[in-house]
Amino acid sequence: MSTDNSASDEIIRLENVYKIFGPQPRGRALKLAKDGLTKNEVQAATDHVVGMTDVSFDVKRGETFVLMGLSGSGKSTAIRTVNKLHDITDGKVIVDGTDVQQLEGTALQQFRQKMGMVFQHFALFPHRSVIDNTGYGLKVQGVEKSERDRRSLEALDLVGLRAFAQSSPSELSGGMQQRVGLARALASDPDVLLMDEAFSALDPLIRRQMQDEMMAIQEHLQKTILFITHDLNEALRIGDRVCIMKDGAVVQIGTPDEILTQPATGYVAEFVQDVDQGRVIDVATIMRGAVTIDASMDLQAAITKIGTNSGEGGFVVDESGRPTGLLMPKDALLATTRGNDLASALRTDFEKTTPTSKFNHIYAAAGKGLSIAVVDDNGSLVGALHPREMVEEMGRVESLIDGFEREVFM
Ligand SMILES: Nc1ncnc2c1ncn2[C@@H]1O[C@H](COP(=O)(O)OP(=O)(O)O)[C@@H](O)[C@H]1O
Ligand SMILES: [Mg+2]
Repeated sequence: MSTDNSASDEIIRLENVYKIFGPQPRGRALKLAKDGLTKNEVQAATDHVVGMTDVSFDVKRGETFVLMGLSGSGKSTAIRTVNKLHDITDGKVIVDGTDVQQLEGTALQQFRQKMGMVFQHFALFPHRSVIDNTGYGLKVQGVEKSERDRRSLEALDLVGLRAFAQSSPSELSGGMQQRVGLARALASDPDVLLMDEAFSALDPLIRRQMQDEMMAIQEHLQKTILFITHDLNEALRIGDRVCIMKDGAVVQIGTPDEILTQPATGYVAEFVQDVDQGRVIDVATIMRGAVTIDASMDLQAAITKIGTNSGEGGFVVDESGRPTGLLMPKDALLATTRGNDLASALRTDFEKTTPTSKFNHIYAAAGKGLSIAVVDDNGSLVGALHPREMVEEMGRVESLIDGFEREVFM
């Protein structure tokens, strides 16, 4: 979802990387893999396991890049080469201009501090409070207690757990514990977040919430995220780009739309069949006519125009029809306690989308609870999406698809 230009420069690059597990990784197994033999063939011939074969991809600064594939496809191996938890057998791993293979000792330690890592089974220290768990990485880095606590609280704030800072881990649900994992990674303010099946153990509802929150955090902090999942739905939902792996090799790299609409191989196509198609619906099909308010109105008049119960906001537009402010009912009501001034109740931090955008692209933004402006190529307001409707629409779309699939495929 990153649209800014800073996203265009790359921060992580894997170049023709091979990882062979076995007693002689650089022997015949590597040669056969380089000759193009598959993971199974190499294993049969040499008894060595191919973790990665000829893997190349690059991750841009500020991007959420997802590695997706079945268990054993090489995802964890790939992510572990990025911070040198694994040495590679051949090829090159470059992070922020540094050749990772050359790093040793303190240089490697310092390098790793630029990366936060979150795993599926994230273990908290049971006898330490949430805040101490969050600050653990900082402690290891030698950051003193008051600074540690300040940064930990900030990170807990980001994941919505500030109120639990003094709690013990046993008082937290699984989802909350996983959030502490994310907070711990964020507390060190890393450039890159490496997330290996970070949400895979969570039940679907909580998982979805975590995805939304992570996307909101990412939008705010503009971290680079390398995210691993075996779930294509999750990959398409959160990834700016998705890299599909199979048997240690890259099968396709593309935006979610490219993966959905132009699967590179039958293997990808088969995966895509199982995906919830809600995301391929255009914004145009679900947007509503936008309510507009006049900047010269007083607050009461504007409130009358938008109504106060529906949770639907109204937009102020400039002379060329471009939205410049959003009045949400809750902000409007709050502002009435200060007077009758419309300007003081307007927000400018609303999202914009276009009629041809895909619904799922903007769906996460519904979590902010603000109406979204739909604008044409000139930036003029042509419609609106409202958070509650978007959530309902998502449910409707999913049940429609379910029904459709039952009809067509059964
Ligand atoms: N330390 C290891 N020793 C031997 N084989 C390994 C090791 N780590 C991973 N593998 C093998 O490498 C392949 C890729 O594993 P992995 O990267 O963990 O897959 P994923 O994360 O996609 O499930 C698998 O066949 C796995 O068995
Ligand atoms: Mg794995």
